Amino acid sequence: MIKFDFNTYTKNLYSEEKFQSYYGKKEELIQKLQNSYMTGWMDDIDSSVVEKVKETAQMIRNNFDCLVVIGIGGSFLGSYAFHKMFQKYFNDNSFEVIYAGTTLSDEYLDELVDYLSQKNFCINVISKSGTTMETTITYTILKDILKRKYSEEYVNHIVVTTDKEKGSLRKEVAEKGYISFEIPDNIGGRYSFMTPAHLLPLALNYDIDKIIDGYYDGRRYIDQAIEYAVLRKCLFDNHKYVENYCVYEEKLSFFTEWLKQLFGETEGKEGVGIYPTSSVHTRDLHSLGQFIQEGNKVIFETFIRINKSQNFIQYKEENLHTINNTVLDSVVRAHYSGNVPCIEIELEELDLETVASMIYFFQLSAAFSGLLFGVDPFNQPGVEVYKKEVRNSLGEL
Ligand code: PA5
Repeated sequence: MIKFDFNTYTKNLYSEEKFQSYYGKKEELIQKLQNSYMTGWMDDIDSSVVEKVKETAQMIRNNFDCLVVIGIGGSFLGSYAFHKMFQKYFNDNSFEVIYAGTTLSDEYLDELVDYLSQKNFCINVISKSGTTMETTITYTILKDILKRKYSEEYVNHIVVTTDKEKGSLRKEVAEKGYISFEIPDNIGGRYSFMTPAHLLPLALNYDIDKIIDGYYDGRRYIDQAIEYAVLRKCLFDNHKYVENYCVYEEKLSFFTEWLKQLFGETEGKEGVGIYPTSSVHTRDLHSLGQFIQEGNKVIFETFIRINKSQNFIQYKEENLHTINNTVLDSVVRAHYSGNVPCIEIELEELDLETVASMIYFFQLSAAFSGLLFGVDPFNQPGVEVYKKEVRNSLGEL
């Protein structure tokens, strides 16, 4: 269950008239989205795909010490954010899933290679295009290690998730016979949570049936998804160009990274869009808090609140989770008093279903938001610019 408060702490900080006029376009927005090709993430996932994901996860658990997921951007953030949220802070005994491919740091790779030398590991390389530089480099290095370690058997240590037909990874699958999964044509990277790109890494440790049910249950929040998109657009029109996602659990910090990619790549083009950033409270109240309270008024905030906790840590007579949420309420009031609009999204509990519903809600809202900004929500042409510069300097990698 998710609750939304779009009104209490945004009042008088945007034009109500504009809100009504954008919201009046609701049916048009729904129609536009439905007419778009890249909306495969709104459709039910094929049950045979889910079965294959579960079987492959079981095979990996039975045969290997750990899984190395190689991917970046939309091919990594969803499952990574989810995993971080549900992994224990200490004494975590989940099946080991290591994420690589998001850095060209030789120090990281060197330590990873050293660590893996003691492990019987398996790779899941995830790339829709099959041409992403960071993924290609990491995959090539780790595949060479597998070849040296297992000679011809190395092919049984690789699972590929990529486009159905295009790209070098698909070609390699055809040649080597690796287990493989498809990222459907009509689903872009940052909208690919409900595909094997994220479900396979998650299936190692979580009940993906619950995740799938929760995700599609998010469809019921379509009105709120439009309302959130409209409100953000009204705030943007009122010179609020930065959205700060605030969380009160360190575990959620990578979820805000996922949000940054989702909204940043969806809206930030053609000279428009809201710049997404994030804070983990209460830590960042002692750094960025000053700026938000009294600095340049270009910021609005979206707070993600967890209503119930399963833990019972007491401080004096009070439950620590209650104290954390009381601080959240106080911060919202304080920032609003400094003319910072604050939106609240409350999850009843941090569980698999609710988080998956929230993912669907945000994807839907981001897509509507892109349409409200008048840009294509599903492309990211700007990312190509740096890639081209890299190719100019290093050639094809
Ligand atoms: O949202 C997107 O489409 C991008 O962030 C991609 O996911 C990212 O660039 C990785 O691309 P690929 O999966 O082709 O390696």
